[in-house]
Amino acid sequence: MFRNITIKRKIHVFRLTWLQKQKKFMFLRRKSNLINKLEHPTSKKKVLMQTSTPILSVQNLRRDFKMGNETVHALRGVSFNIYSGEFVTIMGTSGSGKSTMLNILGCMDRPTSGHYILDGEHTETLKRDALAKIRSQKIGFVFQSYNLLSRTTAIENVELPLLYNPSISAAERHHRAIEALKRVGLEGRMNHLPNQLSGGQQQRVAIARALVNDPVIILADEATGNLDTRTSYEIMMIFQELNRQGKTIAFVTHEPDIATFSSRTVTLRDGLVKKDVINENVQDAKEAFEALPPPETFEED
Ligand SMILES: Nc1ncnc2c1ncn2[C@@H]1O[C@H](COP(=O)(O)OP(=O)(O)O)[C@@H](O)[C@H]1O
Ligand SMILES: [Mg+2]
Repeated sequence: MFRNITIKRKIHVFRLTWLQKQKKFMFLRRKSNLINKLEHPTSKKKVLMQTSTPILSVQNLRRDFKMGNETVHALRGVSFNIYSGEFVTIMGTSGSGKSTMLNILGCMDRPTSGHYILDGEHTETLKRDALAKIRSQKIGFVFQSYNLLSRTTAIENVELPLLYNPSISAAERHHRAIEALKRVGLEGRMNHLPNQLSGGQQQRVAIARALVNDPVIILADEATGNLDTRTSYEIMMIFQELNRQGKTIAFVTHEPDIATFSSRTVTLRDGLVKKDVINENVQDAKEAFEALPPPETFEED
């Protein structure tokens, strides 16, 4: 009898604490939404979108791949604009055309037809060399598998994009790489090789490398795809911070929780835009990270 009451009490106390935690979480969530609304009022943003020129504009973009006698229509007439300061996620199931889209946006591939205007330049008419130049000056790209040079330190990996720019001295290159690594919180790991870093740290180096040229837009293709949830959210904290500092971001993902950290989501399906919505309820990656259950620990008996 006495034991029964104690158990009941314990359940009651557990319920109360759980309810309190839920309430606190909802309060923080509402608070963050409110701050978001104050900082990024949607109505103002919509007006801004209509009046300013987009950083990036794709118009009726098509990309076909010839495979023997067959043709794969990876993009079948995609149109949208991205404006300065936006954080856009591009969603869609596997095979919907996300990577094809991002490769064209990153000037690594050209459309079969349609227009792609980046920072005022019609890229679809450019030759290979000119396209490569635009890519190195205007785009920062982050890949799913980091794509770091293996026998090269973090700082040297970050310096790489600047090597192609003869107007930047070695000292300036070094200085800029240090600054970029500081922005992603890796000042303590500058001389480490990729295999001496965790997956999350390697992706931070890749983000620093994408930042070092001060690009007009950062493009990311499934940049959290190889990482566990906690590390993914930490990476999203960095992207959100960069966006708060004014960086424009287009981030491909197939994970809905990752999309809640962005301010707009374009959904592709079978090579077409299925949805394009402003996210009224942007989640704060730091709060989401803190609300995650603690990492698993293995206790000894
Ligand atoms: N280089 C290529 N050659 C032939 N088909 C391709 C090529 N790249 C992509 N595809 C095809 O185009 C479609 C879209 O692919 P992709 O853009 O990689 O989709 P997602 O990134 O959304 O998974 C798929 O059917 C894929 O098989
Ligand atoms: Mg893909």
